[in-house]
Amino acid sequence: MTHQATTTYTLNSGAQIPALALGTWQATDQQVYESVVHALQKGYRHIDTAAAYGNEEPIGRAIRDSGVKRDELFVTTKLWSSNHNDPESAIRKSLELLGLDYVDLYLIHWPVALNPNGNHPIVPTKPDGSRDIILDWPFTKTYKLLEPLVEKGYTKSIGVCNVTISKLDQLLSSSDIKIKPSVLQVELHPYLPQHKLVKYAQDHGLVVEAYSPLGSSNSPLLKDEDIQTIANKYDNASIATILVSWAIWRKTVVLAKSVNPLRIESNSQIVDLGDEDGEFLNNFAEIKGGIKRFVDPNWSPVVIFDTNE
Ligand code: A2P
Repeated sequence: MTHQATTTYTLNSGAQIPALALGTWQATDQQVYESVVHALQKGYRHIDTAAAYGNEEPIGRAIRDSGVKRDELFVTTKLWSSNHNDPESAIRKSLELLGLDYVDLYLIHWPVALNPNGNHPIVPTKPDGSRDIILDWPFTKTYKLLEPLVEKGYTKSIGVCNVTISKLDQLLSSSDIKIKPSVLQVELHPYLPQHKLVKYAQDHGLVVEAYSPLGSSNSPLLKDEDIQTIANKYDNASIATILVSWAIWRKTVVLAKSVNPLRIESNSQIVDLGDEDGEFLNNFAEIKGGIKRFVDPNWSPVVIFDTNE
């Protein structure tokens, strides 16, 4: 009853994006190299990384060693916060590490700029230990600096991560935007469905991507009896298969991370989820007593998330 996930969506840039991607956060270089080679050999065609993950070099090597042609692949990387002042240098560095001439998608990782000349290249801090944020640098200014990267051919499409409806609205309504964002990447799973945000973005022509779709490390979702009951109905599919299938049922891209060869394979096997099961998972957080967010770094004093979305 399971089948390989082959769904693709069309981005507003005209490009096709595979609905299933291999997520690569929190994996060592060797793990990520082996996972990417394995995933590509098992049919994955979409790899999601970020400059801040520090793994672009092994991913580039894995892509080359996999034998899969570049034009059959969709590669995403992300601009880190301490490089908001100079996205062109940042993407050139990412491309050099990946060994690629272009990426398919370049995303602003967080809508907050960090001091590029601070005391640490990734997370510069102030004497009180808080992140060294440039409070008067709006992410819309960074977005404007991404547009030339499309014009210069470094990336095919651009987009944003971790923004609220109000920030997305601010971006979409700025009169000087020439290239619309193609993608919104946020944390999404049955404990954090973010229905309003997903609908707002989809209604405005963005493809929405789900990170931590399985509920991240030590996920309570993967042990949930109600989701297990749904999985049993589909020829004893795994809970992970149901979570990946739900993400695709609601027309989002799903970035499932695994470094385990069998789990990488099984996560690419989906079922055609019935609407009743999809609706149950839509209402899951409400039924279970509230939302749970697994990725919530401290960007104080900036407020990133809006729990009403
Ligand atoms: P591992 O990499 O050892 O497989 P998310 O995609 O939500 O960030 O979740 C990833 C977490 O879920 C990782 O800890 C990953 O561990 C684990 N994981 C991935 N696929 C499966 C699966 N099919 N079954 C159980 N755990 C999984």
